Amino acid sequence: MAIFEHEVVVVGAGGAGLMAARYASEGADVAVLSKLHPLRSHTGAAQGGICAALGNEEEDHWIWHAFDTVKGSDYLGDQDAIVIMCQDAPRTIIELEHDGVPFSRTPDGKIAQRPFGGHTRNFGEAPVRRACYAADRTGHVILHTLYEQCLKRKVRFYNEFQVLDLLINPDGEVAGVVAYEIRTGEIHTFRARAVVLATGGYGRVYKTTSNAHANTGDGFAIALRAGIPLEDMEFVQFHPTGMYRLGILITEGARGEGGVLRNRLGERFMERYAPTVKDLAPRDVISRCIYQEIREGRGIDGKDYVYLDLTHLSLKQIETKLPEIATFSKIYLGIDPSREPIPVAPTCHYAMGGIPTDPDGRVYRAVRLLEGRDGNYQDEQGRWVTPRFELEYVPGLYAAGEVACVSVHGANRLGTNSLLDLVVFGRRVGKAIVQQLEREGRRLPALPDDPERRARQTLEAILSRSEGESVAQVRADLQQMMMDNVSVFRTAETLQQARQAIAEIRNRAERVRIDDHGRQFNTDLMEAWELLSLVDVAESIIHSAEARTESRGAHSREDYPKRDDARWLKHTLFYRYPDGSVELRYRPVTILPAEQYPFFQPKERKY
Ligand code: FUM
Repeated sequence: MAIFEHEVVVVGAGGAGLMAARYASEGADVAVLSKLHPLRSHTGAAQGGICAALGNEEEDHWIWHAFDTVKGSDYLGDQDAIVIMCQDAPRTIIELEHDGVPFSRTPDGKIAQRPFGGHTRNFGEAPVRRACYAADRTGHVILHTLYEQCLKRKVRFYNEFQVLDLLINPDGEVAGVVAYEIRTGEIHTFRARAVVLATGGYGRVYKTTSNAHANTGDGFAIALRAGIPLEDMEFVQFHPTGMYRLGILITEGARGEGGVLRNRLGERFMERYAPTVKDLAPRDVISRCIYQEIREGRGIDGKDYVYLDLTHLSLKQIETKLPEIATFSKIYLGIDPSREPIPVAPTCHYAMGGIPTDPDGRVYRAVRLLEGRDGNYQDEQGRWVTPRFELEYVPGLYAAGEVACVSVHGANRLGTNSLLDLVVFGRRVGKAIVQQLEREGRRLPALPDDPERRARQTLEAILSRSEGESVAQVRADLQQMMMDNVSVFRTAETLQQARQAIAEIRNRAERVRIDDHGRQFNTDLMEAWELLSLVDVAESIIHSAEARTESRGAHSREDYPKRDDARWLKHTLFYRYPDGSVELRYRPVTILPAEQYPFFQPKERKY
């Protein structure tokens, strides 16, 4: 048991964590803790691209990108943050290129770009080529490049350290984290002036997911246990094209390259639902359409999947632009996509919600309303007004990437905006930390008493049990329950069932037994601990979804099929207290003034 000291501790070594570490290391001593080797982080699985209005292939502008993101978010994204992200995107891509990211090229040597869902030219006219890519390995090359940049800058890595707890001292400041060293089974305290949570998503809450096994929502749960709310957890993205039954991602880049979705009758059904952008509609729309086709009996062979057809693309296009997809299809399905269509169905892919932050990644624990309204409202001229509010921050605590909710994605993220979010806001976090240290000094805050107590007690309780269900059984039941009740479509009934089920599953998860009682590489123990995170995350999704009686973006309530701005143009904040009670609070969405940004005013979404 050791106490380590660093000015900055970053938890998670994906794109956001590495970007934050890289920039913080310009003015601070930085450590990165990761439960995996950094190069196994899930950023490496991002395939199709990272978007920026570079205009390399056709005319494009950041304001078109911002409009698409606002509309894609179903008007729940905070528009100030969206403008920051879209304005900063071109500079960010050029910087990644200079750092060594090997982007694919146009014939004249510029960074190549392809269309992606929901990205349009001239405020929705037609799809635009905005996604910069490195074949279909974009996340992989970005992750490798950022890791090299961090090594070059002497960032200290603690690999295979599972962070279990966030330390907040009695003054309310962040003081560090507690971590379990997987190799030795020891628990350590890491003192720090600033902590960044960049632990990625929680896709493993669902049975069918494109997410890696490691994506168990640890950072969400750690924050919740430290008294921090989770924002907009009801918004869970299902990517339309997961390999049938396996959930493995088939990039939207495949449709960007011309692939189309077909039903049992061979119809290109998206033409009916989204006549302008067709197969390049946003993900929430396409996932619902796929299920609609299936429900109406047009799934392939009457089953619960449709086809992604790439057979009309040239072999060269598949080999150069989509090589991973071609290989995955052959390995996992025994299909050559240049000859046969790929069976696909929606797969849980991304968390729009997360730890609430401002655009510098500073985490807040509460919102003080200055006008007594928790949601937006319309003035006499019918323009949307954002009531004034103040944020109460957790000093020294930052979050970035999928675990954070800035919120730029609102109710539905556009493809390729996630890699962009990681790099833009990861960088801003790194820079904000350096400024914080320069402004406030580098003194390490006092630790709370017995900082390792909760982590130690939780692990000892698991290790001490010799009876109980297996982790795998409880986890499988949780994943099936979430799939059945809280996936693409929801109703009051399914959500109520889920609320009752999660209480029972929590009980079971708190009593699981493990077989390995050793100290070294006890992955059994870690999986039992991760299960508790999955349960916390699932509970936050269920409660937030049950309360939101409207349909918006990825939250599709069959009993409330319409968006209801008058009541629900607001962000959810989910709190869980130590006695197990939960509370929902709300805060307004930031909407920019109609005079300056007339296109950003909420209206019905059509594609
Ligand atoms: O379809 C994809 O390549 C995924 C991209 C994303 O989630 O941004």
